[in-house]
Amino acid sequence: MIKLHDLYFKPFISEKEIDTAVQKMVDGIADDLGDEVPVFIGILNGSFMLVSDFVKKYPKPCEVTFIKLASYEGVKSTEDIQRLIGLTQDLTGRTVVILEDIIDSGNTLEEVHRIFENENVKQLIIATLFYKPEAYNKDFKLHYVGMEIPNKFIVGYGLDYNGLGRDLPDVYQLKTTQHMTNIVLFGPPGAGKGTQANFLKEKYDLIHISTGDVFRFNIKNETALGMLAKSFMDKGELVPDQVTIDMLNKEVEKNAGANGFIFDGFPRTNAQAKALDALMEDKDSQIDAMVALEVDDEVLVQRLLKRGETSGRTDDADESIIRNRIKQYYTKTAILKDYYTDQNKYFGVDGVGSVEDITVRLSSVIDKL
Ligand code: IMP
Ligand code: MG
Repeated sequence: MIKLHDLYFKPFISEKEIDTAVQKMVDGIADDLGDEVPVFIGILNGSFMLVSDFVKKYPKPCEVTFIKLASYEGVKSTEDIQRLIGLTQDLTGRTVVILEDIIDSGNTLEEVHRIFENENVKQLIIATLFYKPEAYNKDFKLHYVGMEIPNKFIVGYGLDYNGLGRDLPDVYQLKTTQHMTNIVLFGPPGAGKGTQANFLKEKYDLIHISTGDVFRFNIKNETALGMLAKSFMDKGELVPDQVTIDMLNKEVEKNAGANGFIFDGFPRTNAQAKALDALMEDKDSQIDAMVALEVDDEVLVQRLLKRGETSGRTDDADESIIRNRIKQYYTKTAILKDYYTDQNKYFGVDGVGSVEDITVRLSSVIDKL
């Protein structure tokens, strides 16, 4: 992901895919024009990179020139097209191929046609690398299109957002939801996850989603998903991942404007981690980190036994049960540790010390995300 001025953009079309699209345009045009020596005209500024790559690939003699038009302000096309550099050469009887970086509303293209109205060219051919069919509202024929794209603002490969981004070799798409920081919080029983989650959500204004709480809420309120989940639990079966994901999705959507989320109790398996990635991707966002509180087994056992003295939780009273819970945690989460480590997203944090000290350690990880 990249940030230009105030906005975030995510990878959309790779350099390699662009290269393939450019080659396709070159092949089509070279085939169709035969021995004609065309004049390629790039529309500045956006098309400089395309024109350069295009003519390097073009297998036959050709001429190249540019005109400069401007229509865009920020992330919106305007109808007012300015001619900044016009035609400087007589094109009577020539085959002209316009090389556009992108055709959006078609306003610029309309201006191009106006410019060529009285030039008596042999033919005016329009070629564009990117084309947004949903935004296009003119009737001019587009003879060659490298790639059709959805009606979203893009940058890179010549295209800019207020001047920035033209230099990028890949193309990025504007993120519709702006940046969220999403954390998967992990820790063995007794690591102090709940306490730390409360601090973090205050400090970073994040929404804490504890899967256990979400389940209890949905079942208590007899939501459709809650009843569905309960039907599996009543049969003694595991709730299918999709049901849990649907519940989490509802929680995320309920808090659409949030700064981010702390996921607690989920994911537990590789499949769930993938499903969570897909969910965040769908929201134009991502999981930034798995933050795991690391506490030595003996310290955990002592803490839980101590908690058991007052909490009344039977599973906190028996040392062998405690040890088993800790062991289970490590067997289950080892897979997830690998999953997030592979993406450079695993951060272990020393969970021994005062609550404040641990919060400081967690914060130093989150501040760097
Ligand atoms: P149109 O006049 O609306 O067809 O837009 C054409 C011009 O607007 C292009 O040549 C670009 O300079 C600019 N433009 C259109 N869409 C985008 C985009 O998604 N990102 C950056 N510039 C764009
Ligand atoms: Mg342009």
